[in-house]
Amino acid sequence: MPRVQSLDVNGTIRRIDADSARNLLSVLRDDLDLTGSKYACGEGQCGACTVLINGQPARSCITPVSVAEGKKITTIEGLEQDGRLHPLQEAFLEMEAMQCGFCTAGMILSGVALLNGKQNPSDAEIIGFMQGNICRCGTYPRIVAAIHKAAEALRNPESQSGNDPSPATESARPEQARMGGAL
Ligand code: FES
Ligand code: FES
Repeated sequence: MPRVQSLDVNGTIRRIDADSARNLLSVLRDDLDLTGSKYACGEGQCGACTVLINGQPARSCITPVSVAEGKKITTIEGLEQDGRLHPLQEAFLEMEAMQCGFCTAGMILSGVALLNGKQNPSDAEIIGFMQGNICRCGTYPRIVAAIHKAAEALRNPESQSGNDPSPATESARPEQARMGGAL
């Protein structure tokens, strides 16, 4: 059986030795200790395991690791830049767009893909794009609000520059831990 020897994850080439038929999620979580991506349905139906492959959302639970070989993979752990959370991570915190947090990493990565393609999505466009991400806690209205908030922040980055980066705030840390994969 062919093996996959490396993956490009969050801008770094990571060495692995994985059966090419294994799913990407198990390699990320078990071999690379990137546990932000969650295992839930395991059938491509819920979106909890969503990562970006070359910028596009992918269900890592049903994606063979061989499909991701040679492509750029982004997980929730890779969204922070220079000690600052991605604006959509910030917006999820501000809007309290989570309860248990199990869907959150996948939601955020799908949302990032949406915002990379659309600067100012409508409610309908957000709902349509995020259709495959399920939240059992029912935080959908807050998730939509967070995406709108992040879209605004991305359109007007100067207006956000006075904000403290979230890692400096004690109260935000438990939520960040959930989004970053403490589960
Ligand atoms: S765990 Fe992958 S889609 Fe549900
Ligand atoms: S916050 Fe619990 S599943 Fe979405």
